[in-house]
Amino acid sequence: MSTERLISSSPMSEIEDQTNWALRPKSLNEYIGQAELVERVLIAVQAVQARQEAKGDDEPREHLEHVLLHGPPGLGKTTLAHVIANELGTNLHVTSGPALARGTDLVAALTRLGPGDVLFIDEIHRLPIAVEEFIYPAMEDFKIDICLDTGLNARTVQIKCAPFTLLGATTRAGLLSSPLRSRFGLVHHLKYYDDRDLMHIVKRSSSMLQMETPSSDALGAIASRSRGTPRIANRLLRRVRDYAMVRHDAKINPGIVDDALELEGIDHLGLDELDRAFLKTIHSVFDGGPVGLEAISATMNEDSGTLEDVVEPYLLQIGFLARTKRGRQITPRACEHLGLKLINSDLFNPSL
Ligand SMILES: Nc1ncnc2c1ncn2[C@@H]1O[C@H](COP(=O)(O)OP(=O)(O)OP(=O)(O)O)[C@@H](O)[C@H]1O
Ligand SMILES: [Mg+2]
Repeated sequence: MSTERLISSSPMSEIEDQTNWALRPKSLNEYIGQAELVERVLIAVQAVQARQEAKGDDEPREHLEHVLLHGPPGLGKTTLAHVIANELGTNLHVTSGPALARGTDLVAALTRLGPGDVLFIDEIHRLPIAVEEFIYPAMEDFKIDICLDTGLNARTVQIKCAPFTLLGATTRAGLLSSPLRSRFGLVHHLKYYDDRDLMHIVKRSSSMLQMETPSSDALGAIASRSRGTPRIANRLLRRVRDYAMVRHDAKINPGIVDDALELEGIDHLGLDELDRAFLKTIHSVFDGGPVGLEAISATMNEDSGTLEDVVEPYLLQIGFLARTKRGRQITPRACEHLGLKLINSDLFNPSL
């Protein structure tokens, strides 16, 4: 279900991934929003470049300290990895936690790196523990001790690699072990984008897709439905573009955004059918809650993991849902938005 939702923050298909690729900013200049992060990265990159310039040609190349980016899907972690490598003028090598199943996979990845290169490990929280232990000396001293053979023939071989930057990305920072986390010099949490930044992103994407720039009201209408997520903003833009081309003269105004996205069941806050069904179930079946997730999931006949990972985060963020010790509770704001009878606000007490 989650992969089919238009407002899913994960990529919906490989084709979408490719289109997104074309829309990706290539430099820090083009990277919209996340001002603090951009500033921190810019300072770190410029410091590396300055140290590099002060060095002789025969001295080892400077590298950026290890970077950990965490935050919800679709906010630009992978994009930033490419931007950083680009700014440093080095190569980016992409892999992921699950792809590094054994120590030897890590050795293969590390020995491919040139001086100053960036090794991007997506979903770093899924790195097996056995591999994690190899990665510590690699991060600190750029070497790995590998044990060959077993029993009497066992011997340890040390493999050196070029000084590199490990760039880890994760949507679940809480699952990262603290020894691994502590080895990153620059740790940053990506935040949801505000509407102004999203409008800017949609405007830039529309010009890259060679569309006529939507009016600023129309940009605002797309931004406010994008759940603070650039990936969703770009997806909605493409959907609106198609609708405008087929049903109108390709010009995009707020009315067309409304019609196109209403057709997809998306309301002006970016909620879709599943979000609404979730809130309505809590409201009508469980008197507004508090109710356990399992009970909601059984009533809706929907997987509880899907509800927890793809429905709840946004509802929590916009204050439509409260998570209490005793379960989930719908908030008065959500009732108002959905036109539901207000749950007795005396009963609404998220601290319960
Ligand atoms: N700061 C930004 N400025 C402009 N466009 C952006 C920005 N961040 C992300 N995007 C757009 O959003 C798309 C999704 O970003 P990206 O793939 O980097 O997200 P992610 O955080 O790596 O997601 P996931 O956790 O699913 O891997 C990109 O293809 C890009 O077009
Ligand atoms: Mg990514």
